[in-house]
Amino acid sequence: MKKFLEMLTEEMQQAFTAAGYDGNLGKVMLSNRPDLCEYQCNGAMAGAKLYKKAPIMIANDVAEKLADSKVFSEVVAVAPGFLNLKVSEAFLLTYLQGMEANEKFGLEKPEHPKKIIIDYGGPNVAKPLHVGHLRSAVIGESVKRISRYVGHEVIGDVHLGDWGLQMGLVITGLQERQPELVYFDENYAGEYPEEAPFTISELEEIYPAASAKSKEDPEYKAKAMEATFKLQSGVRGYRALWKHIINVSVNDLKKNYSKLNVEFDLWKGESDVHDIIPEMVAYMKDNGYAHLSEGALVVDVKEDTDTKEIPPCMILKSDGASLYNTTDLATIMERMKLYHPDELIYVVDKRQELYFEQVFRCARKTKLVEPETELKFLGFGTMNGKDGKPFKTRQGGVMRLENLIKDTQDEMYKKIKEGRDMEDAEAKKVADVVAISALKYGDLSNQASKDYVFDI
Ligand code: ARG
Repeated sequence: MKKFLEMLTEEMQQAFTAAGYDGNLGKVMLSNRPDLCEYQCNGAMAGAKLYKKAPIMIANDVAEKLADSKVFSEVVAVAPGFLNLKVSEAFLLTYLQGMEANEKFGLEKPEHPKKIIIDYGGPNVAKPLHVGHLRSAVIGESVKRISRYVGHEVIGDVHLGDWGLQMGLVITGLQERQPELVYFDENYAGEYPEEAPFTISELEEIYPAASAKSKEDPEYKAKAMEATFKLQSGVRGYRALWKHIINVSVNDLKKNYSKLNVEFDLWKGESDVHDIIPEMVAYMKDNGYAHLSEGALVVDVKEDTDTKEIPPCMILKSDGASLYNTTDLATIMERMKLYHPDELIYVVDKRQELYFEQVFRCARKTKLVEPETELKFLGFGTMNGKDGKPFKTRQGGVMRLENLIKDTQDEMYKKIKEGRDMEDAEAKKVADVVAISALKYGDLSNQASKDYVFDI
């Protein structure tokens, strides 16, 4: 179906032509003075120079030609030469009926449907979701649904943070609490239990405690780093424990995301590319893309046109350990191999913008992607409290997403009960739906890249 604005423009172009002017001047736009008119055309202003005529004269000529228009119910030429427009109701009605009769309301299929991978959500295993994760989930889900509706093929990947030091910290914390666990017995050769030796609430307690301790106690930190190394190099017990951590955590994440009506096609994570990192590193070295700098393996990504310093992209640390970079690059390599997407979109906190600039440049330079593959960073702002600082609980801690949802639902329930007579069960149901919708709307009604203030 033709776009509404295109039809308005066509009508206007004909009027310009009929009045003896260049039809191209007849571009119609949404009004920037909605108090005066619905649409406007500024073509007469542009035509003034061309025809050496006062713009209002041109506007008057054009308005005259539109006196009997079936498209516009009102065309007013106003000084110094604007055309203020209102659309005929009958014309609008016919257009809407046309939309209704059409598949997808007349939205045309893209000429070249794309395959798009959206990387959003980005939760970290063993850490509870916090309000920052709300934005990625809600915005990413919308981008996914819109792109799908438009006619593209879209794959949503949660990209779990499941491989770094945080895993070593949890393992170390567990060992401290339950040193007798069979997973820590190096001589154990049997099967490991199917049941996880912890619940999600325990898991969520272990991580913050271990993380805090590692900041004060260098020995503890060294232990956690060793545990991370053992896990990554494949020590059996550590891998088995890690699988439990992932399972328990993912089950809980799925519950939380489903509350928000957010659904991922892929539940892959950083760990999934661990095995292809050596291949990627060899490729980067062999082709001369990567070089050693103070023991670390890096790829230079600065360009002559840069106005700010863009540091090299580090692929391996001097001790040979991989980084956040490394897994993101290897993930790009894997996604290209498995899915061959035309576009990759990352919905991540805007504070990671420079990081993604490095990763994207590195992926291009090292030809992990095709020259025409689009790499997009969709950075979002922070959800702040009324004090303008990142949203916290009353105690000053990070607000868990679960609690934010619960608090909003409770508040809504209170409002309903105050305002009307409704049975408890129904009030509860309505409150839950309204609260989730309000949370999502509250987020999406802001420009994604801006910070916003959340106030229940
Ligand atoms: N887990 C990361 C975090 O919490 C976000 C992951 C974003 N996606 C990515 N491909 N790096 O900051």
